[in-house]
Amino acid sequence: MQRGWFITFEGGEGTGKTTQIRKLAAHLEARGHTTIVTREPGGTPVAEAARAVLLDPALEPLGLSELFLLEAARHDHVERVIRPALARGEVVLCDRYADSSTVYQGMVRGIGEGRVEELNDLATGGLDPDITIILDLDPEAGVARARSRNADGDGSESRLDDEPAEFHRRVREGFLRLSVLYPHRVRVVDATGDPDEVFGRLLTVLPGDLR
Ligand code: TYD
Repeated sequence: MQRGWFITFEGGEGTGKTTQIRKLAAHLEARGHTTIVTREPGGTPVAEAARAVLLDPALEPLGLSELFLLEAARHDHVERVIRPALARGEVVLCDRYADSSTVYQGMVRGIGEGRVEELNDLATGGLDPDITIILDLDPEAGVARARSRNADGDGSESRLDDEPAEFHRRVREGFLRLSVLYPHRVRVVDATGDPDEVFGRLLTVLPGDLR
């Protein structure tokens, strides 16, 4: 059987990843592709437990502890969910993946992009996405979207949304840099405008048999 497609979504806070993933999943299912939607950190009980630690504002893990928790979650997720689904020929849509660690922990938090990429490789066993969609948005617009979303919830997942503007600017630059480093798999999609407009742009960067 043919291996499925592994598509990851990246970008700063409030760029609309969740909405676009939902739309793409519905689009692919309607075209007969069995599709699973998952997220990082998360996607398995072990990884969701790590997520709760990572996003708890009361805990504030140190930088390297944060990275190891992310990689632990990632390893569990890859082995238990992503690889098996790809082996069954399914499409896997993942909300954030190793590129988030490269950008947030490696580039912005200063652990170093090369070191983080080595750990990503170890955690994923070298499993790279076929396509990475970067939803690109001015950080001011993204943070405003994320704030209004968090105001509707219980505030338990707000730790990284509370960073200063400079942080979000560097995150955006980091993702754009990945599109230059890995042009064979990384596609930048303009995330301004309403969700249908963004989805229209997103479809144009997908390979023909997924459109
Ligand atoms: P999440 O609620 O998924 O945020 P978003 O809706 O913006 O995707 O929270 C995940 C947070 O964790 C987000 O701020 C980015 C951060 N993160 C990292 O710093 N490194 C990583 O490797 C991953 C996967 C996420």
